[in-house]
Amino acid sequence: MLSPLVLGIETSCDDTACAVLDGEGRILSSVVSSQLASHRPYGGVVPEIASREHLSNWPAVSAEAFARAGVALSAVEVVAATRGPGLVGALLVGLALGKSIALALGRPFLGVHHLEGHLYSPFLAPQSATAPAAEVPERFVGLVVSGGHTSLFAVDAGRIETLGETRDDAMGEVFDKVGKRLGLPYPQGPLVDQLAERGDPAARRFSTPRSGDTLDVSYSGLKSQALLEIEKLERTLGAIDLGAPDTEPPQPVLDLLAGFRAATVAQLIDRLDRLADRQEIPLLAVSGGVAANRLLRRELPAWAARRGVDLRLVPLEWSGDNAAMIAHAALLRHRRGQADDPFQAEAASRIPL
Ligand code: KG4
Ligand code: ZN
Repeated sequence: MLSPLVLGIETSCDDTACAVLDGEGRILSSVVSSQLASHRPYGGVVPEIASREHLSNWPAVSAEAFARAGVALSAVEVVAATRGPGLVGALLVGLALGKSIALALGRPFLGVHHLEGHLYSPFLAPQSATAPAAEVPERFVGLVVSGGHTSLFAVDAGRIETLGETRDDAMGEVFDKVGKRLGLPYPQGPLVDQLAERGDPAARRFSTPRSGDTLDVSYSGLKSQALLEIEKLERTLGAIDLGAPDTEPPQPVLDLLAGFRAATVAQLIDRLDRLADRQEIPLLAVSGGVAANRLLRRELPAWAARRGVDLRLVPLEWSGDNAAMIAHAALLRHRRGQADDPFQAEAASRIPL
């Protein structure tokens, strides 16, 4: 175990997460307590419930993280917590905990941008490997696809430049909305992905918007198309509610979801092609909840092989929100001699990277 021992705290949305990493980015423990059951009846995350649950979950989550890591709180040498973007009330819980722990221990504190956590997460080793994190190259391109973001970044020696992002909805968000329209429970993204596996994308093609030569993406058009198609199907099939017990989804619905998923992934691949036409991509690191998407995980390696790009896909267990990625991003900044003043660091719902 190499110094410094880093404590990571993540409470930006509906997961209460705590992780302990060593100085090589080896994950000694990572605990994520999902609040899904509490939010599910409402079809989405309820901010007030999220904040309250972070407070009540923290003691058990942190105790388990320290027990699994086999270290005491007093051994922590660097403390990191997500400072945004996210739900402010939820962020405040983790941020206040992190600042207090850092102050009590007399250790440096780092307020981490949630996207920075995702951005460097493809370099973490899978949990089973208990290996150090891979070395992060000076220059690489990062693609973060989540419920709140669809962004392409150029990273150069710790400086992060946004190359492109969504002009409207994030990719995970449209998966959730289309799934919700079909009666699926939150989060709908993984369920839509699963159902799409059984459909034929060629049976229901989606038209992709012409977008000039931008690296931005747009998903609201595809979402509207999908919602319109569902409405059309309901005229012949009757109301569709895939959330009802023992519902076998009709084949046209599966085909629709397959077509929808194929179009969302095709748009990402198209932007990557545009970027690769313009500049050399030394390495592409793909992260975020949607990086778990099965089609995306098949298409990206094929694309990377075609274009001769070194690809790093986030290990599945670190694709969704977790605190290991927050501790890891903090470790990288700590190595560059950076720290934040715990009396100044504030939570923010929207902050640039
Ligand atoms: O990164 P994440 O855990 O939280 C945010 O920072 O947003 O991403 C969650 C998002 C949700 O929208 C969820 O539905 C989506 O990722 N997601 C998926 C899949 N797994 C999770 N979307 C499509 N296919 C999946 N397999
Ligand atoms: Zn996230």
